[in-house]
Amino acid sequence: MKALGARFGAALSGYETIELIGDVGAGKTTFVKGLAKGMGIDEDVQSPSFTISRVYDTSTNGLLAHYDFYRLGEAGILSEDVQESMADQETVTVIEWAGIVNNSLPETRIRIEIIAADETTRTLMIDTPAYIEEDIG
Ligand SMILES: Nc1ncnc2c1ncn2[C@@H]1O[C@H](COP(=O)(O)OP(=O)(O)OP(=O)(O)O)[C@@H](O)[C@H]1O
Ligand SMILES: [Mg+2]
Repeated sequence: MKALGARFGAALSGYETIELIGDVGAGKTTFVKGLAKGMGIDEDVQSPSFTISRVYDTSTNGLLAHYDFYRLGEAGILSEDVQESMADQETVTVIEWAGIVNNSLPETRIRIEIIAADETTRTLMIDTPAYIEEDIG
């Protein structure tokens, strides 16, 4: 999952919105750890379950904003925060448990659904704009 995330991260333009779908423990945050590496972020990605959001700086290629709305009943003020992040041309926005901000998600987002087939095997369904598919091969 990390290796795939890294390939993905390296292929991004720098302002995509990625929606990660999957059960608790599916591997969403694990994917983001690799994604950050692929974007050139050295910092270790931690799950934003408790903090709701974390932002990482690539220092050369903009930001990675990582959200997890699992614990929130409603987005409230964070709804503006995430919308700003998605609109920012220099920020890749990744969202776990995006249900409560569903109406704000751009049509052009990348949707990745992760299914845990067994303890170590993951199946992914990826729905992307065409240019990403070309870049990731
Ligand atoms: N092939 C795999 N890919 C991803 N994770 C795996 C894999 N095999 C085992 N795991 C384990 O599954 C767990 C995935 O946890 P992770 O935090 O990434 O899930 P999550 O989808 O973000 O869950 P949550 O909804 O709680 O945030 C980790 O403990 C990881 O070590
Ligand atoms: Mg997670």
